[in-house]
Amino acid sequence: MLATAPASGPWTPSFGPWTILAAPAEPFGVEIHGVHGEQPAPADYLHDVLLAPAHREAMLAWIDRVGLVVCLDVRTAHPSYQDVRGRSSRGRLSQGEYYHHDGCSGPTKPRVVEIRCPHQAIERRVATAVAPFPDTVYAMLRALPASIAGLPEIAGHRARLSDDGGLPRETWDTVQGVVTRAVRRELDAESARAYFRDVDAVVRAYRAPWRMGESRLIANANPGVTMQHRRAYLEPHEGGRPSGHLVKRWPAEVLE
Ligand SMILES: [Fe+2]
Repeated sequence: MLATAPASGPWTPSFGPWTILAAPAEPFGVEIHGVHGEQPAPADYLHDVLLAPAHREAMLAWIDRVGLVVCLDVRTAHPSYQDVRGRSSRGRLSQGEYYHHDGCSGPTKPRVVEIRCPHQAIERRVATAVAPFPDTVYAMLRALPASIAGLPEIAGHRARLSDDGGLPRETWDTVQGVVTRAVRRELDAESARAYFRDVDAVVRAYRAPWRMGESRLIANANPGVTMQHRRAYLEPHEGGRPSGHLVKRWPAEVLE
């Protein structure tokens, strides 16, 4: 159901003369269907309204709070987007297919990651899963097949998770790295993809199919709850079927 009063409560920013058409996304986050006001709405409402300089900080702070803001049918030719690289093979799970924050290998993580499906001839068949951190780490531990769950570098973390219900913050990245490496080492790519589908189910990831023109703004680094994402094959990956492409950027860092 669409509401002119946005779905997400008291922190929803105001956008000057514009009202946003928003609804809760499933299973979390907010979906924006456009803006309306006395003037005709701009087709590129993402740049002309939501991320316009006067509203940008409030918009970014809102993404920090709700984790995921999905903007539908944005028509934009903004030059700051770059193609998402990364291929997936049948032999080996590729990097973008397991849960990660963007920028996790560099010195600074971007505040927000925007991934976008431009209008194009071929539909995007491969999903993108988004889920809160460290819930992703806990789901990865819980969904492990017994053969990996019992490995010495993993069994202790599993036991600690079931004893206390959580792991100390300073261990989250390390534990995730240990589990990811074990999964990549022990499982062939298709088994690893199936495992991550189980992880998605345990963590209740956002995995809606991509719609053309959609931009997903994902909280990636802030003092509160952040999200991780991954390229997600919802069915066995056979290769050879064309799929639309995605673009991305880090809006808090690249927009002037
Ligand atoms: Fe990424």
